[in-house]
Amino acid sequence: MRVRTMMLLLLSNCNTISHAIPYPNLKIPHSIKHDGNNLHDTEKVNVPLYRTTTTNAMIASGPSSQSVRVGAPNAASQSNSNMSCFALGHGLSGPDCEYMASIGMFDQGRNAIHNNGKIWIGADGPNTFTFINGAGVPIILVMWYALLNDNTASFMNVRRPEISYSLPETGSAVEISAANGVPGGWSLLYNHSTTLSEYGQIANTFGEFSTGIYATIDVSRLVNMAGNSVMVRVFKGEPALDTTLQPVCVSDMRTCAYVCTSKSVRSCGATGTYQLINCGGQNAVAGIDDHGNPTGGCQGWANGGHIEVIFT
Ligand SMILES: *[C@@H]1O[C@H](CO)[C@@H](O)[C@H](O)[C@H]1NC(C)=O
Ligand SMILES: *[C@@H]1O[C@H](CO)[C@@H](O)[C@H](O)[C@H]1NC(C)=O
Repeated sequence: MRVRTMMLLLLSNCNTISHAIPYPNLKIPHSIKHDGNNLHDTEKVNVPLYRTTTTNAMIASGPSSQSVRVGAPNAASQSNSNMSCFALGHGLSGPDCEYMASIGMFDQGRNAIHNNGKIWIGADGPNTFTFINGAGVPIILVMWYALLNDNTASFMNVRRPEISYSLPETGSAVEISAANGVPGGWSLLYNHSTTLSEYGQIANTFGEFSTGIYATIDVSRLVNMAGNSVMVRVFKGEPALDTTLQPVCVSDMRTCAYVCTSKSVRSCGATGTYQLINCGGQNAVAGIDDHGNPTGGCQGWANGGHIEVIFT
């Protein structure tokens, strides 16, 4: 009874999440079968840690720069799709895989099911993300790994994502882990209707993050200002275990979010065309990068924390 009351209090405190789903109702698959067929974790990558001399604001430019690369040279508009749905990654349904192929995605996610030093399905990493479908339509979560000098990581017409996971209905959820020192991002394919942009990025709202010492996360709307709504909440502990936990920072469509300055454009990304809005609260960091562009996002999860992402 007490737990229930606290949950209601927690939800009513946060009036922006009208679709929040109490944790006990989440359909999170807890056991992962290691059947040997879906292991894509042989690739070992040395994840470079950030230089310790960088400032918080510089580090924060890591996440924000992914959605900015609208004109990356190698991301041609033609589809390079070569993907097969013969063998499905863990958590990806056949119809969802076929949909990804139909919009010209390069491949399914690697969907590693144990620690690959980067991004994997499971709750055993220092950083965990719970992605929750609160939208009432099928959603496919797509996550990529984005080294700072990697110009095409988010271009799904030419690059294989780390994760592509089916969240078929409201309450569908998945727990994803990330090692420290990992820069990455995600977007969503909504109701089998989201396509790739003319350049090959998912034409929807992005989340961008870097984990580690200067862990930062933000919502970016630069690829599609008319994208679907997401709410990102940063926790120091596990809200699934302690329902009284409050987020230490929030990023949503209007909070710690990158938006195009001009109200008349659908997407943007060139220097001077975008801004970071309402990013000034507790653990929220905003600065200016080397090019004079805004940089920053939600911190408060250095070297480990929990991120809850609700698609609404
Ligand atoms: C498509 O797959 C084939 C066979 O695995 C491979 O030889 C070819 O290079 C792939 N094409 C692209 C564009 O990756
Ligand atoms: C989702 O897609 C179905 C099938 O195309 C359509 O009938 C429905 O209106 C869509 N719902 C939303 C919220 O877009």
